[in-house]
Amino acid sequence: MTLRGLVLSGGRGTRLRPITHTGAKQLVPVANKPVLFYGLEALVAAGITEIGIVVGDTESEIRAAVGDGSRFGARVTYVPQPDPLGLAHAVRIARDFLAGDPFVMYLGDNFIPGGISDVVDEFRRDRPDALILLKRMPQPERFGVAVLEGGRVRRLLEKPRQPPSDLVLVGVYLFQPTIMEAVDAIRPSARGELEITDAIQWQVDHGRTVVPHVIEGPWIDTGKMDDLLECNRVVLDRLDEQRLGTVDPGSRLFGKVILEAGAEVRGSTLRGPCIIGERSRVIDAYVGPFTSLYHDVVVEGSEIEHAIVLEHTVIRGVRKIEDSLIGRHVVIERGTTLPQAHRLMLGDHSRVELP
Ligand code: TTP
Repeated sequence: MTLRGLVLSGGRGTRLRPITHTGAKQLVPVANKPVLFYGLEALVAAGITEIGIVVGDTESEIRAAVGDGSRFGARVTYVPQPDPLGLAHAVRIARDFLAGDPFVMYLGDNFIPGGISDVVDEFRRDRPDALILLKRMPQPERFGVAVLEGGRVRRLLEKPRQPPSDLVLVGVYLFQPTIMEAVDAIRPSARGELEITDAIQWQVDHGRTVVPHVIEGPWIDTGKMDDLLECNRVVLDRLDEQRLGTVDPGSRLFGKVILEAGAEVRGSTLRGPCIIGERSRVIDAYVGPFTSLYHDVVVEGSEIEHAIVLEHTVIRGVRKIEDSLIGRHVVIERGTTLPQAHRLMLGDHSRVELP
């Protein structure tokens, strides 16, 4: 029997505004690769090549980035979701694609550096009705929380005020086709969504085998800026050095610096781990650890550290930028006209912190 993949790449992305006003959060680059790609690679590495991607408003952008999936060694089918009505709703509308096969549901903005191959093997071997990934986390009240009993999942609670355990739901779930009965049976929650936690609880309540798999390695939900920067840090730390760009003799590079093809560094100090994307230019500048400049970025006469900068952005003459996520085609530069003032033109839901 085929094990299929169902990757959720719709949703609202309100927590990553304003980036998500103009683009899909699943395509925000982590170490210069869209976060969604890491998930697709993890599925293929686990032997799953029939992949459905649930898409919403950003369908065309996701399609343009992923295509037919052949570059990942997968065959991708797109499943449009007219409105983001919940994770269980996404399962409902993917019924035809799933074709009565067991499947792995993977949230497209989630990142598990260790991959999912071992848990997929476990699911193939033991064939429970559902297998859910859990991780021990501080402040579990921010997540879905699981209560275990005798090696099984007993109860699931969505963001409980007083969490009964520190085991939170990671965005990967493995299901037999019996989940369809559960997603059909449940009703929308208070926030108007069909919750996958309710569907899994329904399975528990109806005597199905729902088993936990607690992961020890990192798991990051990249749906918020701080977590996205943290993810970028974890991935940059693991990459190998690569120097495809050019560096002039006036520049100094320390630690692991990755220069992609056509990147140019002049008169600058770079302290890794950091990555400079294709055709990006760093001139008379300082780029510090855990920084990713995507392609066609210019950083000139500026200092930047612990940040992700998207494509075609220009940063010029700015003293220090830190802990930041900066969108595409943004211009940040030092003003030359008096009076000296912060002159801003910011999109909706932008956030700026000034010294
Ligand atoms: P979430 O991050 O929980 O929801 P969201 O994308 O609406 O974000 P926010 O809370 O910031 O508004 O969704 C997890 C993943 O599942 C994400 O990749 C988007 C996707 N998703 C769908 O594809 N369809 C849906 O109906 C929902 C709710 C999420």
